[in-house]
Amino acid sequence: MSNAIRDPALWDEWHPVALSEEVTDKPKGVRVLGEGVVVFRTADGVKAMRDLCIHRGVPLSLGRVENDRLVCAYHGWQYDGSGACVCIPALPKGQAIPTKARTPAFACAESLGFVWVCLGTPKDPEPLYAKHVDPELIPLRMGPYPVQASAPRVVENFLDVSHLMFVHEGLLGDSRYPEIDDYSVREEDGVLRSDEIVVYQPDPDGRGRGVNSRYVYEAFSPTGVRLVKRADGSDELFHLFLFVLPESETTCTAFMLQLRNYGEDIPDEVFVGFQNTLLEQDKVIVQAQKPELLPLDLQAELHLKCDRVAIAYRRKLKELGVSFGTD
Ligand code: FES
Ligand code: CO
Repeated sequence: MSNAIRDPALWDEWHPVALSEEVTDKPKGVRVLGEGVVVFRTADGVKAMRDLCIHRGVPLSLGRVENDRLVCAYHGWQYDGSGACVCIPALPKGQAIPTKARTPAFACAESLGFVWVCLGTPKDPEPLYAKHVDPELIPLRMGPYPVQASAPRVVENFLDVSHLMFVHEGLLGDSRYPEIDDYSVREEDGVLRSDEIVVYQPDPDGRGRGVNSRYVYEAFSPTGVRLVKRADGSDELFHLFLFVLPESETTCTAFMLQLRNYGEDIPDEVFVGFQNTLLEQDKVIVQAQKPELLPLDLQAELHLKCDRVAIAYRRKLKELGVSFGTD
């Protein structure tokens, strides 16, 4: 078996696997917590199952969807959305299909324009992020962004305020103004939330205007976080969700959902291009960090007061028993 990430809390979590439009009646193979998963679309919605035919171990993602059934490319066995094999073409007429002829199906949902998979028992029938979305704001999805780093390293980088002035100098920060005033982080209904943190930003969204921005960071789950940003002297709102799919211990794919109340006339490519630039800057750092797995022992790395969000995030992972490791 492949090296799977076994943390039970992650198995029971919803993971983003694709943009909605990427899941069609052409099966798509993805990796979730080290497990090969095939997703496809039927008249009844999106479906997910183990990407492995139980007959001779061929990935079902090599097959095709016919009459809402997933048909294996090798000998044409047909699986329904529950993972049961309902047709074996080579069986003589009248011979029953063995009851063992099934592959595990996984919970699959569509929400916010993404397809989500849960390998275990989902706590909620669909991801809860949608209830935190302000319907007044303009949504823009971004990704998939493959990253050669452990998922929590990517999440923590997103929650890190004091890198803005260095990694994103000239855009999200200015190294002449690196100090971070003290702030605190609270937990309410399982959501970690920081106070407002003020950062001077020379060009926070690619429009070339410097502002003092007020950041609030929130962590909803080990892999689902958001920043909420307001610029001083402006009514503009900017929310950015980051959803990370842990594919293996040291690889992941990030998706983002941006929401804003301005720039209706600015083409999506401008915002996406800007976010791509930021992500490339972050990738240089997170793909080089050692150890590759995020240390949950708070003695393992040095922390400052400005790292309170990261400290709270690491504590929360520890409390949930989530290491993202395969041991
Ligand atoms: Fe899939 Fe034989 S390997 S049908
Ligand atoms: Co960054």
